Amino acid sequence: MPVGQDTYEALTREDQAHLLHPQFYAPDHAEPVIFESGEGVWLTDVRGRRYIDGLSSLWNVAVGHGRTELADAAADQIRKVAFTNNYVGYSNVPAIKLASKVVDLAYEDMAGVFFTNSGSESNEGALKVARFYWNLQGQPGKVKLIARERSYHGGTLATSSMTGLPVFWKYFGPLVPEIVHTEKPDNLECDCEPNSDGECAHWIERAILREGPDTVAAILCEPVKGAGGVWTPSDDYFPRVREICDRYNVLLIADEVITGFGRTGHWFALERWGVQPDILSVAKAITSGYIPMGAFIVTNAILDALKSTPADARFMHAYTNSAHPTAAAVALRNLQIMEDEQLVANAQAMGDRLGEGLRDALGGHAHVANLRHLGLMAGFSLVADASTGAPFEASRGMGLQVQKHLRDQGGVITRIVGDSVLFAPPLCINAAEVDLVVEATARAVRDVTGK
Ligand SMILES: Cc1ncc(COP(=O)(O)O)c(C=O)c1O
Repeated sequence: MPVGQDTYEALTREDQAHLLHPQFYAPDHAEPVIFESGEGVWLTDVRGRRYIDGLSSLWNVAVGHGRTELADAAADQIRKVAFTNNYVGYSNVPAIKLASKVVDLAYEDMAGVFFTNSGSESNEGALKVARFYWNLQGQPGKVKLIARERSYHGGTLATSSMTGLPVFWKYFGPLVPEIVHTEKPDNLECDCEPNSDGECAHWIERAILREGPDTVAAILCEPVKGAGGVWTPSDDYFPRVREICDRYNVLLIADEVITGFGRTGHWFALERWGVQPDILSVAKAITSGYIPMGAFIVTNAILDALKSTPADARFMHAYTNSAHPTAAAVALRNLQIMEDEQLVANAQAMGDRLGEGLRDALGGHAHVANLRHLGLMAGFSLVADASTGAPFEASRGMGLQVQKHLRDQGGVITRIVGDSVLFAPPLCINAAEVDLVVEATARAVRDVTGK
C-alpha cells in the first residue's frame, strides 16, 4: 500500500537525520525516492510510483527483482545453519559447489576462487594475490599496480587509489603508494583503433616503461569502464593489452565487477576478444544483488603457486564472511536462473536493441555525441555542439536535468556521470521494456535541450 504524504515526509526527515548515504552530499537527499519493492525490471517506491530500473539498481540486479527462488534459497540455507567458519580445515557445501560452478563458467584457464563480500574486496584481494605470487616467484620487487584513467575500482583506500577518477580522491589523501595510473602519452603515433574515450593499449605500455617492468606486479582493467561513463574498448584493445602484459611479464587483472556474469552478452567480457586474464575480479551479478558477495579468481599457475607455499608463507588474507553459506546458496540459484532463462543471450539481443534504438532516436541529434554500447551497457554524451563535441557549461547541469526528466516523467531510473547518461538494465529485460527506455530517453533529451 502506498503511504501518504505525511508518512513520506516523516521517513524523509528520519533519513536526513541519521542515514549517511554512499557518496554523501546532503542536498541530494532533500526529496528522496524511497524504494519499497520490485518485480522484474520494475521498481515501486513507497508512494506507489513505478519506474524501470535502468541501471539494474547498481549494475547488479541481473535476474531482475522479486525472484522468490532466491528468497527461498536464502531461507532454506539459513534454516540449516547460521554461518560456519571457512578458515583452516573447515568448509561448507554451497561454497564448494559455487567455486566449481564459477570455475566452469569463467575463462578456460581459471582454477581457484577466493570469495569476498564486495567488488572493492575483490580488487584489493586481487592486488594482494598478485604481489604474493611475485614474491613466491622470487621477484619481490614487482609490487606496483597500474590502473587506467576514468576507471572505478571501489571504496576502500587501496581501491579508491586504483580508481582513475580524481573526484574520488579529494580530501582522502595520502593515497596508497605504488598504485599508479596511465597517462595520455606525448607524441604517440600508432595504428591502434582508439577506445570510445580515446585511449589505446600504448598508454599501458608507456606506463609500464615509465615505472620499470621489474617493479610492476599487475595491470588492472575494467573491460568496459562502467561508473566512469560506460566507455567501451575497441576490438584490438584487449588483445594488445594481453600481448603487452606477456611481453613485460606483468599480470592482467580484469575487474569484471560490472561486466562479469553476462552483462556484455558473454559470461565474461574478455571472451568477446579471446583474451584470458590472470586474475578475475567479480561481485554484483554473482548474486544479482540479493545478498552481498564477490570473488577473485586465479589461473592454474597462480593456484599451483599458492598450493605449494612453504609453511611460513601461508596466504594470510581473510574475511569473516568469505564463502558465507547463505550468499553461496543464493549465488548458485541465481546462476542457475541465468542459465535456465538464457539471460546472457538475452543481454546481447536486448543490448543491441537498446543500442540501436538509442542510435535511431538520437543519432545525428545536435546535442548528442558518442553513442556507445556493448551488450546491455549503453551511454551517450550530451554536448553543446555535436559537430565539434564541445561540452555544455557544467553549471547548466544538462545530464542532471535529463536524469530527473527520465525519472519523474519517463519513469526510468538511470545514472549520469557529468553530462553522460548511462543505462544497464536487468538482463531479463524484454523488447517492450527496452523500447519504453528509448522513448523516454528521446523525450527527455528533446525537452531538456529544446531540440
Ligand atoms: C568495476 C567496479 N569495480 C569495483 C567496484 C566496487 O564494488 P563494491 O561497491 O561492491 O565494493 C565497482 C562498484 O560499482 C565497480 O563498478
